[in-house]
Amino acid sequence: MTPRKIIIDTDPGQDDAVAILLALASPELDVLGITCVAGNVPLPLTARNARVVCELAGRPAVPVFAGCDRPLARDLVTAEYVHGKSGLDGIALPDPQMPLQTGHAVEFIIDTLRGLPEGTVTLCPLGPLTNIATAFQRAPEIVSRVAEIVLMGGGCFEGGNTTPAAEFNIYVDPEAADIVFKSGVPLVVMPLDVTHKVLTTRARIEAFRALGTRVGHAVASWTDFFERFDMAKYGSDGAPLHDPCVIAYLLAPNLFQGRHINVEIETGSALTRGMTVADWWRVTKRPPNAMFMREVDADGFFALLTERIGRL
Ligand code: BDR
Ligand code: CA
Repeated sequence: MTPRKIIIDTDPGQDDAVAILLALASPELDVLGITCVAGNVPLPLTARNARVVCELAGRPAVPVFAGCDRPLARDLVTAEYVHGKSGLDGIALPDPQMPLQTGHAVEFIIDTLRGLPEGTVTLCPLGPLTNIATAFQRAPEIVSRVAEIVLMGGGCFEGGNTTPAAEFNIYVDPEAADIVFKSGVPLVVMPLDVTHKVLTTRARIEAFRALGTRVGHAVASWTDFFERFDMAKYGSDGAPLHDPCVIAYLLAPNLFQGRHINVEIETGSALTRGMTVADWWRVTKRPPNAMFMREVDADGFFALLTERIGRL
């Protein structure tokens, strides 16, 4: 089987880090590059953290690019209150030795899509959609060359996690999200409705630790760290492990269920900025533009994730 070519666009973040590890552990996927964006923490830290994760995985040759350092039209909002000052708090890992690529992430996305056959590259955004939207604005001819976008963002029945209406990734750069959701590229969306069901319970964290590997220990330490905030917020047994849902979908789509519906992004309202207005009940005539997921086999997800992390 030819591995599926993906670009991971990310703002690590512990859950982004676990998603990157899952991709790098999986022979079904060919990670062409990792493009970093400002989000959970500012760009210099996301570009650093992505390389820390590649080195942890023993993959220092994966090209990592820095991209946009702020949203298209707004001031950057970050989330150190969840992820810690570094974005990867929870375990001290060495500063990366591998270089950051010299080119801009947006140029890498454009060049890659231009250079490979149409319909062969899947984009996997795990943070604000600034890099993807900027690439689409700068080189509109690449839009039709994207195979699919599988992203983490938004929410419907769960509401928001950053405001009552908006999930963090969409809230931070709603104008970018609007461009991506209107692009016509086939979209698969992993919203809070799914990720809030993928909880890092004590037994699941201990399963990572029990792998007895350096990577398993790091994953357990990260999840230990960030679940404190979410458990206090939600009163749940564990925290949502958002971003790995994107990669798990590429490996095992049957773990997820959703509907192909219309999803629009609110950019105008101060109160509901960044809301994903998801027409779940199909009450409008607006055409479907996204496979919007709602259900997940959480045990199946953690079985897959733990087995793959164990390979690193
Ligand atoms: C999303 O926001 C970030 O904090 C996480 O990394 C995830 O991508 C969840 O709302
Ligand atoms: Ca993220």
